[in-house]
Amino acid sequence: MSGFTCATCAETVSVDTFAPWRCPHEKGDRRHVLLINENDQHVVESHHNPFIALRRNMMWWQFAMARGMTDNRSIAVVEEVDRAIAQVGGVGFMTTPMLYQSAFSDHLSFESPGGIWVKDETRNVAGSQKARHLMAILLHLVVAEELGITPWTDRSSRPKLAISSCGNAAIAASTLAAAAQWPIDVFIPEWSSGFVVEKLTELGAHIHRCPRRAEDPPGDPTVLRFREAVNNGSIPFSVQGPENALCLDGGRTIGWEMAQQLAQENITALDAVFVQVGGGAFAASLSRGLSEAGISAPLVAVQTEGCAPLSRAWDTAQSDANPAQHWTKHMWAWENEPVSLADGILDDETYDWVADIAQIQRTKGKVVVASESHVVEASRVAPETTLIDASPTGTAGVAGLLSMRAELSNTARVAVVLSGVRR
Ligand SMILES: Cc1ncc(COP(=O)(O)O)c(C=O)c1O
Ligand SMILES: [Zn+2]
Repeated sequence: MSGFTCATCAETVSVDTFAPWRCPHEKGDRRHVLLINENDQHVVESHHNPFIALRRNMMWWQFAMARGMTDNRSIAVVEEVDRAIAQVGGVGFMTTPMLYQSAFSDHLSFESPGGIWVKDETRNVAGSQKARHLMAILLHLVVAEELGITPWTDRSSRPKLAISSCGNAAIAASTLAAAAQWPIDVFIPEWSSGFVVEKLTELGAHIHRCPRRAEDPPGDPTVLRFREAVNNGSIPFSVQGPENALCLDGGRTIGWEMAQQLAQENITALDAVFVQVGGGAFAASLSRGLSEAGISAPLVAVQTEGCAPLSRAWDTAQSDANPAQHWTKHMWAWENEPVSLADGILDDETYDWVADIAQIQRTKGKVVVASESHVVEASRVAPETTLIDASPTGTAGVAGLLSMRAELSNTARVAVVLSGVRR
C-alpha cells in the first residue's frame, strides 16, 4: 500500500494522512523515522519540471489524489508554486543536467567506456539539491490548503515554517517560503555571517541565532531551538527525514532524473555513485530514486575525517537485523569539534543514517571517509575540470572518488553530484 512505515516500530501511516511528518509513536527523541513504502511501478511523463514529470511516484501527489483532487488541478498547483519560486529565486524547477565529463575523467585516468558522469545540482532552485527535499513538503501543504483539510482556515492563521541550517538548506527553505508567502523561522549557528545571512534577510526569513546554552543537552543548538519551535506548533520545513519524512520523497527526484539521463545513453548500471553525506537525506533519497528507476549503482556515502558518524554506524549496523530499533548503539553525536573545508556536511549526527544504511546494503555500497587533503583536492579539481562552480561541500563526494580511485578499474563508470553553488 502507498504510504509510510516506521523503521523503528513498524507503525504504518497511510498516504491520505495530512502532515505525515513523524511516526505517531515518536516521543521527542526523533528516534523513529517514517520510510516511504516501495511502489511497484515507476511512472515518468515528459515535462521540464520534475515535480510534474515524476509526480505519480510522489507522496504529495498520491495524497492529493487520495483526497479527491484532480490530476489537472495537481499540475496547476505545481505550476503556480513554480512561477512564484521563479519570481523570488530567479529560476523554477527544471531537470538538472547530468553529463559525461571527459576532462574530469581523463584527469583521473578513466578510459572509454568508463568515466565520470556529473549531476549538476548547482543549477537547481537556490543553487543546491536542498530545494528538491523541501518542495515535496510545500506541495503537500499547498494541496492540503486547497482541499480545505488543514487545521487552519485562512492564510493569515497559517502556522510558521521552521528550519535549522547553516547554509544551503536555509536559503532553499526561505526561497520556497517567500514564494508561498509563508512566514519562516530559520535557526542558524551563532557564528553565521556574510552571504547566507544577507540572502535570508533579503528573502524575508526570521533569523534566530542559536548559541549553545548552559542548560542544553548535547547536540546542535540550532536543531534544539528548531525542535522547540515545532513543539510550539511550527511546521518542520526540514531536510532531515526524522523531522519530516516528506523530505525523503522530494530527494528521490534527483535519482529518478539521473536514471532517465543514463537510460538515454543506454546505461543501466554504474560501478559507484558517490554522494557527500551531512544529515544523510540526500544520499538516501538519491540512491533510493536510482534503485526505484531500475539502475544498479552501489551507493558510496562520503564523509570527511573531521566528522564521520555514518562510518561508525555502518561498521556496527551491518550485522544488526533491525538497526533502527537500536538507534543509540549505532548513532550518536560526533564527540570532537567537527572540522573540514566541506563545512556544510559537518552535521554531528547523520540524522538519516537508517535510510542511508538501508540503501548502502541494498546497493552493496559502502561508506568512505575521505582525508582532508582529498577534500581540498576535490574542491579544486572538480570545478576546474567540469567548469561547474560548486562549493567544497558540494564537491566532497569527489573526495570519496579520489580515495577509492585505486580500487576502480580504468573503465569503471561512476557518478558524482556537484551541488551548492560557490558563494
Ligand atoms: C551542497 C551540499 N551537498 C550535500 C549536502 C549533504 O546533504 P545531506 O545533509 O542531506 O546529507 C549538503 C547539505 O548538508 C549540501 O549543502
Ligand atoms: Zn515509530
